Amino acid sequence: MSDLADLEAAARAAQAMAYAPYSKFKVGAAVQVDGAIYEGCNVENASYPLSVCAERNAIAAAVVAGGRHLEHVVVYTDASPPASPCGGCRQVLRELAKDPAHVTVTSINGKGERRSWTLEQLLPDSFSGAELPCPEPRSGEE
Ligand code: THU
Repeated sequence: MSDLADLEAAARAAQAMAYAPYSKFKVGAAVQVDGAIYEGCNVENASYPLSVCAERNAIAAAVVAGGRHLEHVVVYTDASPPASPCGGCRQVLRELAKDPAHVTVTSINGKGERRSWTLEQLLPDSFSGAELPCPEPRSGEE
């Protein structure tokens, strides 16, 4: 099980790897999924819309490692006040959140500033697989 300091260190390390030659806005994200930490950074593309956010890359890293249940997210940027995740990333984070009210999203920067929300606060009344006519995946089918 990781603690918040480990997640913050992972997000900071991920930010250092960001590939953001166009926006120059480097983002690192660390997610705790099933007790383990996975990192992602933003990866931009000369064809701008193909750029991928740090949070999404962290979720992809968790999923390919077999992780399924999101517990905590830390985002690291140079923004002051600390930046909140974009709308698209909120929805992607929601996919692995069993209960968005119990997933904490913390945003930090190098000045030691921090902001914290639950995923429910960032994306209230969210759309999820529960809305779909097909059943949500059962354990083992996920
Ligand atoms: N970005 C993220 O990585 N996460 C967010 O939640 C907001 C935006 C990235 C995308 C792009 O590479 C740069 O920040 C500027 O938008």
